[in-house]
Amino acid sequence: MTQYPPEPFRIKMVEPIRLISTEERKIALQKAGYNVFALRAEDVYVDLLTDSGTGAMSQEQWAGIMQGDESYAGARSYYHLASVMEKIFGFEHFVPTHQGRAAENILTGILVKPGQYVPSNMHFDTTDGNIRARGGRPTNLVIDEAYDPVSLHPFKGNMDLVKLQAFIEKVGPAAIPFGTMTITNNAGGGQPVSLANLRAVSELYHHYGIPFFIDACRYAENAYFIKLREQGYAQSSTLAIAQEIFRLADGAFMSAKKDALVNIGGFLAMRDGNLYQRVCNELILREGFITYGGLAGRDLDAIAIGLEEGLDERYLEYRLGQTHYLGQRLLSAGIPIIQPPGGHAIYLDAGHFLPGIPHAQFPGQALAAELYLEGAVRAVEIGSVMFAYPDPDTGQVVYPELELVRLAIPRRVYTQAHLDYVVSTLERIAERRQTLKGYRITYAPELLRHFTARFEPL
Ligand code: F0G
Repeated sequence: MTQYPPEPFRIKMVEPIRLISTEERKIALQKAGYNVFALRAEDVYVDLLTDSGTGAMSQEQWAGIMQGDESYAGARSYYHLASVMEKIFGFEHFVPTHQGRAAENILTGILVKPGQYVPSNMHFDTTDGNIRARGGRPTNLVIDEAYDPVSLHPFKGNMDLVKLQAFIEKVGPAAIPFGTMTITNNAGGGQPVSLANLRAVSELYHHYGIPFFIDACRYAENAYFIKLREQGYAQSSTLAIAQEIFRLADGAFMSAKKDALVNIGGFLAMRDGNLYQRVCNELILREGFITYGGLAGRDLDAIAIGLEEGLDERYLEYRLGQTHYLGQRLLSAGIPIIQPPGGHAIYLDAGHFLPGIPHAQFPGQALAAELYLEGAVRAVEIGSVMFAYPDPDTGQVVYPELELVRLAIPRRVYTQAHLDYVVSTLERIAERRQTLKGYRITYAPELLRHFTARFEPL
């Protein structure tokens, strides 16, 4: 498919962007220590760094913002969000948080003890980092197909159930404070998880008495993939599918900056009343009172409205269609990507695109830097810069299987012409890919180093 449904909206406010010269881009990147996170956003032309908090809000959301109730406790905005939360997620309790990682911080802070394990299909960076920060060990048990960039498995985000059971038996359920699943699987290509797999994972965790929490950032995109691809769901609404997903879990954490279509916000939801009490105490200490959790009242209204808009099937058809379009155009140009295209992003397979650059010289970093130099396109490395860590037992650096560069598509922001520009930028890089060189790290903190590391070209 090289076409997707036209935007189910029209544009009523615009934000100018400009393309600075090649010479200016060279200087800007050098000043940034070759880390695109350190660039000024104004020096970027098409910004595909993330789909997180970068979407465009609707007129209804902006109208909701004007009606926010800024009461410290018990605001109308909180009850608005609570009613939408009840409808979609159905957990007995929830607290708002300022973004997803704040929810992760509270959950891991309460539950994870040093030496314990938290299994997932794949953890994303902040979840991984929050577990490590407590001395825990995040463990990825996704199906093998996830590591095969050309496998067309329809649910490449699925958990490997055999690996999961063997893992629980090996470390013992007492060493697992909770288990999770990331939907869609951001670190593995934005690939969806099937309902059948979620059901089986839930049964396994519960068989061993392990609480099951879902990392729900892109649950609506995942629900729409289920509608499109899983037998028996073509006639179900995405809302009904989402409800079925969350009935399987004991709780969820979510960055609302993704499928809730807002610029800031998140939540932590759960069934267990005792856990909720401990969460409230932590929240009050670190985020804010339990009915606003580090957000303004108006933000809660924007999330409530955005959660419903994010489930709209006309929007989701356009959204997944746009991502698919970018993926197909790149494949036609011979540029290797993780197939099939994911929900929120296209993942360039930098390892295969730049076979001459080894893990230790960061092929993904090299490609991300080149995308900026060539076209002022900003993307993010999801490879060894983000995920290579020394093994806590052996001290040996463990490299991730895939060296990826993610082109994340902000929601309701860019048009087809912007995507075509990205494709032509990559086509020009592909012509001279043999000349690209690796990078060396000159500074990096211990955890979540990709955000602030500095580099030097080799
Ligand atoms: N979980 C997943 C799967 C995520 O993708 C993210 C954020 C988080 C948790 C944390 O949420 O940023 O609100 O604290 N992902 C962004 C990204 C940053 O670019 O993919 P947060």
